[in-house]
Amino acid sequence: MSRPKIAVFFGTRPEAIKMAPLVTALQSDDRFELMSVSTGQHREMLDQVVDIFDLPVHHDLDVMTPGQTLASLSSKLIGKIDQLLESEQPDFALVQGDTTTVLMASLACFYRRIPTGHVEAGLRTGDMTSPFPEEANRVLATPLSTLHFAPTSVSEKHLLDERVPRERVFVTGNTVIDALHLEVERQNDPKIAAEIDAQLTEVLPADWREKRFVLITGHRRENFGGGFESICAAIAELAAKFPDVRFVYPVHLNPNVQGPVEQSLGNLDNVLLLPPQSYRPFVALMRACTLVLTDSGGVQEEAPGLGKPVLVMRDTTERPEGVDAGTVRLVGPVRENIVDGVSELLTDSAAYDAMATSDNPYGDGHACDRILQAIADHFAK
Ligand code: UD1
Ligand code: UDP
Repeated sequence: MSRPKIAVFFGTRPEAIKMAPLVTALQSDDRFELMSVSTGQHREMLDQVVDIFDLPVHHDLDVMTPGQTLASLSSKLIGKIDQLLESEQPDFALVQGDTTTVLMASLACFYRRIPTGHVEAGLRTGDMTSPFPEEANRVLATPLSTLHFAPTSVSEKHLLDERVPRERVFVTGNTVIDALHLEVERQNDPKIAAEIDAQLTEVLPADWREKRFVLITGHRRENFGGGFESICAAIAELAAKFPDVRFVYPVHLNPNVQGPVEQSLGNLDNVLLLPPQSYRPFVALMRACTLVLTDSGGVQEEAPGLGKPVLVMRDTTERPEGVDAGTVRLVGPVRENIVDGVSELLTDSAAYDAMATSDNPYGDGHACDRILQAIADHFAK
């Protein structure tokens, strides 16, 4: 058989970050032919990642529209992916995570009997409403997938409990750690670190490294409305309580996030609202901050490896490994819990030190090698 053609799908910022090391590895692996597909579920935030990692994009389906609904996004995606599969006929497809891109790419491939590998398989909260709609997306992607790349033994167990055959499940670590290791190594070069600092000085005060700061991100659909109101109220209260601390918040472009955040926090001196940051400056911010306040999935995986305490503004997490390691704590989108959690970490050094241990249960930086070997073995059979 000639080299199998592997279609790699990504559509949003986190998928592109987590697929970047795989795309790069596939590019120089002569066992495979790479076909890289951006669905364009995101635009600016995805393009930032494509540029930074210099990712080849062989096909761009360009589906994003402002304020898109889940149903219209899904129908556009499945139609366009199906046309592409018909014309390009890949032998295998890789999807990553739990977005609408993942579910629609998995389903389109299933209909055309193209085997798929699900990267970051087996994460579960057990609650279909949280995170919404991601829990449903990843649960539904499982029976459609041929190979399942579980980041940890916890996610492996979920898949086995759902009766996925053991020989199709591979514990690989999360590719986000492959990307992070490469980036941290890069930023250990003082010249590169200085370039990134200069970039950040364009959006932050010149003395941004000299004061303590809390790094914030948030975008979950189940927090829209009341959840974001509480989150913003908590940040405003903290900003007043700790005038010497800065609250640095790169705001997601979803209008359901941007609107309330800018309205509630736009005029506070020590709350710095930024546009979404490119991956490299964002990693520099994670490394320099005092602590992270987030509802993001990827950030929960990255920050513990950098020794930063993470307070998660959600009621559930599909990433219990960080909680078990003591570096991550759930505070919900609940004003008092957020204020209490951040206040404790800013004032109690023993509580801070207990959470600031550099322990990363999500991978060792070699997930991509394991994934590509499993695909090669699949074709060898
Ligand atoms: C999506 C994923 C979520 C993931 C998140 C990562 C789904 C259902 N949701 O959520 O799982 O955690 O991405 O960030 O797949 N927008 C822009 N420019 C961009 C990106 C988004 O303007 O580059 C705006 C648009 O108005 C767009 C809206 O954000 O319609 C929502 O984007 P969408 O991909 O549907 O959902 P996210 O909330 O970004
Ligand atoms: N990230 C980034 N710039 C930002 C905020 C986050 O590059 O301004 C990165 C972060 O390092 C992580 C990923 O984006 O790798 C997380 O994406 P997001 O929070 O949008 O989605 P989730 O992980 O929750 O699906």
